[in-house]
Amino acid sequence: MKILDGKKVSNDIKNEIAAEVQKIKDRGEKVPHLAAVIVGNDGASLTYVGSKVRACERIGFESTLVKMPSTTSEIELLTKIEELNNNSNIDGFIVQLPLPPQIDTQKVLLAVDPDKDVDGFHPMNFGKMALDMSTFIPATPFGILELLERYEVDTKGKHTVVIGRSHIVGRPMSILMGRKGWPGNSTVTLTHSHTKNITQIISQADIVISALGVPGFLKAEMVKDDAVVIDVGITRVTDDSTEKGYKIVGDVDFDNVSKKASFITPVPGGVGPMTIAMLLKNTLLARERHRK
Ligand code: GUN
Repeated sequence: MKILDGKKVSNDIKNEIAAEVQKIKDRGEKVPHLAAVIVGNDGASLTYVGSKVRACERIGFESTLVKMPSTTSEIELLTKIEELNNNSNIDGFIVQLPLPPQIDTQKVLLAVDPDKDVDGFHPMNFGKMALDMSTFIPATPFGILELLERYEVDTKGKHTVVIGRSHIVGRPMSILMGRKGWPGNSTVTLTHSHTKNITQIISQADIVISALGVPGFLKAEMVKDDAVVIDVGITRVTDDSTEKGYKIVGDVDFDNVSKKASFITPVPGGVGPMTIAMLLKNTLLARERHRK
């Protein structure tokens, strides 16, 4: 069994990006600038956005964090997005999801300038991704592809089972794993809450990508020998023995599944840090595009 070490790989990627930033500085050009908008006070979302902004600082990007109260109206958020669209100093930005119920997420995603949409959630970019056109690929699926590539995991002709059909992870992941090329060329089954015989389908998977958010969902008896197991779950559970009072747990029963798997991602230290690294990569790409 091999660990797909997202912490290590994400550090490698961040070092590669930092080297690019140095070259940009040496040319006397403007460094990439990422902005992140967060609406409300959800603890987990604040932590994730904080990590994204800190990562920018560490690698030499400029960053802006826009914090808006949970009572923000849709029009106020759309006005802020328009401001970011028109700010030529900002190369890319994200609006952290989920949004409070008074705001229509689809309207928000449509309002982001596709050229600054480093999350890859705008329908224009999502469509380009599905059509194999060059675009911003959503950071979490992009990070999983990068892990598979750097560990030279064979995906061609394999049966990939994706668990969960969210717009952020499961849906794009299912498209990407079925695309031509590598990592891709997989036969993909996208499973969700209405899937019948889900355990039987999972047991046939060469590659399992679980993006469900149910701690310990994937048990050893559900996966076949030598399966590749990617755990996208990041659920906070109370744990008084930790400093913060909680710990992050994945969808996979790691101790037992790791005994059967050929490759497996840990939680934490697997997919999570890759998401941040790939968001930075998309921001660098946005900067390069804006130069042209
Ligand atoms: N919420 C959970 N993951 C993500 C992400 O990758 N981007 C944004 N904007 N919100 C998220």
